[in-house]
Amino acid sequence: MSETLLAPSAWLDPPSPAALPASPLAAALAQPIMLGLFLPIQAGGWTASTLPRGTTWTFDYNAALTRQAEELGFDLVFGLAQWLPKGGYNDVQDGQAIDSFMTVAALAAVTSRILLISTVHVLYGPWHPLHFAKFGATLDHISKGRWGVNVVTGHRAVEHEMFGWSRIEHDRRYELADEFLSAVKHLWAADENFSHDGEKWRIKDGFITPKPLYGRPILVNATGSDAGIAFAARHSDFIFITSPTGSAFDIAIEALPAYVAAVKAAARAVGRELRAIINALVIIAEDDDAADDYADAIIADARTVGFHTGKFDSDAHAWKRRGAFDTDRERKLGGGNLQIVGGPDTVANAIARLKQAGIDGVQLSFYDFVPDLALFGDRVLPLLKAAGLRL
Ligand SMILES: Cc1cc2nc3c(=O)[nH]c(=O)nc-3n(C[C@H](O)[C@H](O)[C@H](O)COP(=O)(O)O)c2cc1C
Repeated sequence: MSETLLAPSAWLDPPSPAALPASPLAAALAQPIMLGLFLPIQAGGWTASTLPRGTTWTFDYNAALTRQAEELGFDLVFGLAQWLPKGGYNDVQDGQAIDSFMTVAALAAVTSRILLISTVHVLYGPWHPLHFAKFGATLDHISKGRWGVNVVTGHRAVEHEMFGWSRIEHDRRYELADEFLSAVKHLWAADENFSHDGEKWRIKDGFITPKPLYGRPILVNATGSDAGIAFAARHSDFIFITSPTGSAFDIAIEALPAYVAAVKAAARAVGRELRAIINALVIIAEDDDAADDYADAIIADARTVGFHTGKFDSDAHAWKRRGAFDTDRERKLGGGNLQIVGGPDTVANAIARLKQAGIDGVQLSFYDFVPDLALFGDRVLPLLKAAGLRL
């Protein structure tokens, strides 16, 4: 390659859509607390129980659910990405999952307002910054600025092996992802051809047009490690966090203020703002007693080898404390994730307390998504509005 190479320090970093008032992201950020839905595009959602439910991983189910969330005024939906060998975690979470990138892209065509966040393992396979920049700009235009991506680097050893190599060392993954995403951002911003001769990727006179509508697509990282938080601070609008202490709400709520403050401080130290969105499993019923009964029924026939119980070797820091304080019930309900079990008042109160702890948004999952989300919409949303937590 030639003298046309730009030093990485001269690469362009397009503005966040958060800074542009007309962007869909700016509209979501106007909410006192954002509401997101963690789509069950993977079999079993977060809970390996056989208690009958309508939840399925199919596109039609998830499309209907997304429209339901949009009608309720939710701000975003998000789908995870996983690559599991035959059999998955257990006979409920058996590994069947539609791809996050493609599914969320297709949701752009059946929605009009809600933000749509895909997950992509940018280090796997043949992803090239040009692909990513082009596909991202395309989805940005199709969705009119509503599409975003949760950039992950892959924490399970089996996933890297599936792609043909041994798992790359944890912090090294974020260095490589930094090269990748910095190049993508430059491509989104640059008016001139771009050449790059990097550690992992090469580009000669690359160019992307059309440019994204609001600077760039929405960027997210789901992480809990120092390297991941530093990466999110440099690049992202949202950080998807999980409870730093495990599932119990009363323990997590004590730890969260300092944890969230540290995450946001990391971004402020580099002159940026990062909003924290926490995932929470909501087991909701008409009142607290009925919700307790619901939780008991779910775990009556629940598998213990679920999502985050270590069946596969993972080096993710985000889930390190999973199960540290969790009871058997919490582990079976959806171990590691923050859990909110209760009637409408308890659920609304928990969300208010998360806001007080510094959380900017909650990303909810349910056991039986359609009816449980409907109950949340009927009974919890009015309480959140009355409390000034939703516009
Ligand atoms: C709410 C949430 C959602 C996540 N979704 C995914 C996902 O879809 N696919 C994935 O490989 N990792 C996902 N992760 C990230 C991994 O669990 C792990 O945190 C990631 O590899 C980053 O590792 P780190 O925490 O050590 O930085 C998610 C994490 C959180 C907290």
